[in-house]
Amino acid sequence: MTKAKKLFIKTYGCQMNVYDSERMAEALGAEGYSQTDDQSQADMVLLNTCHIREKAAEKVYSDIGRLRAFKQENPNLKIAVAGCVAQAEGAEIMRRMPLVDLVVGPQAYHRLPDMMRRVDQGERAIDTDFPPEDKFDHLPKIRAKAAPTAFLTVQEGCDKFCAFCVVPYTRGAEVSRPPARLLSEARALVDRGVRDITLLGQNVNAYHGEGPDGAWGLARLIRELAKIDELARIRYTTSHPNDMQDDLIAAHGDVPQLMPYLHLPVQSGSDRILKAMNRKHTARMYLTLVDRIRAVRPDILLSGDFIVGFPGETDADFEATLDLVRQVNYGMAYSFKYSARPGTPAADRAPVAAEIADSRLQRLQALVTEQQRACQTAMIGREVNVLYEKPGRMPGQMSGKSDHLHAVHVQDTDGKPGDMVRVQIIEASTNSLAGRLI
Ligand code: SAH
Ligand code: SF4
Ligand code: F3S
Repeated sequence: MTKAKKLFIKTYGCQMNVYDSERMAEALGAEGYSQTDDQSQADMVLLNTCHIREKAAEKVYSDIGRLRAFKQENPNLKIAVAGCVAQAEGAEIMRRMPLVDLVVGPQAYHRLPDMMRRVDQGERAIDTDFPPEDKFDHLPKIRAKAAPTAFLTVQEGCDKFCAFCVVPYTRGAEVSRPPARLLSEARALVDRGVRDITLLGQNVNAYHGEGPDGAWGLARLIRELAKIDELARIRYTTSHPNDMQDDLIAAHGDVPQLMPYLHLPVQSGSDRILKAMNRKHTARMYLTLVDRIRAVRPDILLSGDFIVGFPGETDADFEATLDLVRQVNYGMAYSFKYSARPGTPAADRAPVAAEIADSRLQRLQALVTEQQRACQTAMIGREVNVLYEKPGRMPGQMSGKSDHLHAVHVQDTDGKPGDMVRVQIIEASTNSLAGRLI
């Protein structure tokens, strides 16, 4: 018998890449590859890349460069580049980096096993098609996942074309997977011990899968998923404010499994900048939406994304962003300095000076951190549900997530991953909470 080949995967970027990496590992698993955490042991290194900001993309090139020494030592080592950098710059990677054996885009990775066979015969392979067939039909039906939490991609791609963003180009047009497939994938995950599923899509709340009786929206999908016994928690990400339909908002009020956490990026609080970003909503529309969501689920934890230093952003525009943050009061938020991306409409516009963007980013992050701390501190004394995911850092400790997605660690020598426990929060630090079993 030949020795099982070892696969090392490095995943960059968003949760969709995490899901894709799992699926690629499953597809290659059927070809005899088993996954390793030790890159030096690998027969194949797969970089699943992100193109969203320049830094993320640059990192991929330096990581490929670092692999040169490994390949010199082990000429049989195969190097594969997948994900959004592969989609955007695959041909250039093949040209500039002869040590790369294989390039595959996010919509073509079901073809990996075929491509690997060609690579094993000494060819180099590239596939950045948006094939007409559904890649999910060609991936292993049984998920390898055996853990308390899982991602489930329900929708891919984006038709929104925000002026700064590469996603519509790297992931292509918006496509929703049929609900029947998603329900059976979810059941398979639950059968393997998953109790918390996060539905994924670049525009997840625009979901409109073709069901037996017409198109289903995300709310309908969530209501059907909630009927699966043993599935304790449902979440979804990332949403666009313009796609928060009434029935989805209502679901937050009456589906107990739908967790009180919503990531709802707004990007800016200035209407002028929102318009230049092609976001198609105003700050007022966003704030009204937040009020409506909080009316049905007052304790919902909101998180957001912000870009500072978008071309044309003035001090007044930035103040409007700070104002919006103060009004919303986020439980957490991500903020990024604008990064010009080749091929996007905003790429040729005059940039904001780097020092100005840096200082705005610092101010915004200080405000957001303050809100995040206040939100965590407010949890002290409250009783919450925690789903254990893994042992904590200290002996006898378990760690997991609360309904609000706070990381919580608990002293519990009998606990195991997958247990749902009731705890009282006794301590809060910046990134986690400590709880005591009730
Ligand atoms: N689909 C999601 C977000 C996708 S990208 C949405 O519509 O909000 C994740 C985040 O990266 C974005 O919300 C945005 O804040 C940030 N981002 C995207 N392009 C960027 C760029 N060119 N420069 C800096 N940040 C960017
Ligand atoms: Fe990018 Fe905008 Fe689409 Fe989000 S909605 S993925 S930010 S283009
Ligand atoms: Fe990055 Fe592609 Fe996700 S660009 S953020 S990996 S969709």
